[in-house]
Amino acid sequence: MSRSPDGSPLERSQGRGSGLLCLCAALVLWLPSPSLAEEPKFGFGRLATPEEIAAWDTDVRPDGKGLPKGSGSVSFGQEVYDAKCASCHGTFGEDNQYMAIAGGVQPGDIDRGRASILATGQPLRTVGTKLNHVSTLWDYINRAMPFAQPKTLTPNEVYALTAYVLHLNDILPADATLDEKSILEVRMPNRNGFTTEHGFMSKAGKPDVKNAACMKDCVATVTIASELPESAQGMHGNLAEQVRSFAPTSGVKSGRAPAGASAAASPTSPGLDLAKKFACMACHGVDNKVVGPGFREIAARYKGSGGAEPQLLAKLKAGGAGVWGPVPMPPQAHVSEQDLKTILTWVLSGSPTR
Ligand code: HEC
Ligand code: HEC
Repeated sequence: MSRSPDGSPLERSQGRGSGLLCLCAALVLWLPSPSLAEEPKFGFGRLATPEEIAAWDTDVRPDGKGLPKGSGSVSFGQEVYDAKCASCHGTFGEDNQYMAIAGGVQPGDIDRGRASILATGQPLRTVGTKLNHVSTLWDYINRAMPFAQPKTLTPNEVYALTAYVLHLNDILPADATLDEKSILEVRMPNRNGFTTEHGFMSKAGKPDVKNAACMKDCVATVTIASELPESAQGMHGNLAEQVRSFAPTSGVKSGRAPAGASAAASPTSPGLDLAKKFACMACHGVDNKVVGPGFREIAARYKGSGGAEPQLLAKLKAGGAGVWGPVPMPPQAHVSEQDLKTILTWVLSGSPTR
């Protein structure tokens, strides 16, 4: 939405006829019209199939709606966590190089329903201290983790991981088990700590969710857009190259991409195609560092040292840190050796993008 400098989005486009338009629209909704009650025919498209709806309709709500049947214990959660999560979040969920997911819950918080650390000068925000509903944690792990292989966990694994992450946050005991019923009894430390009485980016701002329906002198046209503010352009390289390939929409092209990088948007190189397919680009730009180094930086470093490929192949399989900084690369075990070799040959040849 376009906002004028004083923050009011209404100012610019108040037109005369628009009030009438709004009123008409309201009346159409108000009067029970027989043609609306029947299935509308627009002459294009088709109804979504039950399978398509099921594929999208995966959200889990605070009342438990959407949770599949299943169960998982803290101890099973620890097994899955150590194998699939600890490399990024730390053995105890404490590692903040990617994002700490444990820590900060204080004695008494659970009874009060407020995470007291959030009111201090060092408000440690983890899923333990900030969430008000446990369903958010279940849903997030289920749809987004592990980072490079989202949507690969079974419901039982997600219950177990949720239980283990809650245990790491001192919310559940070591012998706890969660299923679709018992999860509703979890009392989150910050369950009373949420308000909707503030703006999104600024606490003093206008609450985004508190709009009253406009009936008079309304904005004539509204452009709905998702925009990256100028200040954030280029902060993290070209986002379009970095998204994980799990959704139909790609990230916006952003930043002042160096020469050659724009060609990466229409890849024709098998190495680049595979690097995109296996989400290497979530952490590596062609030229720029994202989480790990840019691919051309890697090529430059190993230029002339003939035996680099086997050594790098071993690193990809095992993961590791320390060559470029303290942040580790998790093992790329989901990629076959053949595909890893193709990507590496491409990287070491300078990552040509056409
Ligand atoms: C390759 C690194 C990596 C791995 C492996 C990984 N994560 Fe994450 N995780 C991240 C990153 C990065 C974020 C932050 C993502 C964001 O903010 O967009 C994150 C965010 C999260 C969050 C939300 C934290 C918050 O405060 O919002 C949870 C919970 C989480 N991960 C749990 C898991 C679990 C459980 C696993 C194992 C199944 C896992 N992660 C594996 C990198 C990883
Ligand atoms: C979750 C983030 C992440 C993902 C996904 C990722 N990497 Fe990395 N990668 C890193 C980090 C961080 C480093 C730096 C590690 C270090 O300093 O030793 C790195 C380093 C590298 C290196 C240089 C290793 C060295 O020892 O010099 C290569 C080559 C590489 N990655 C290739 C890949 C390929 C190919 C993929 C996809 C199959 C991939 N990476 C996926 C984060 C990632």
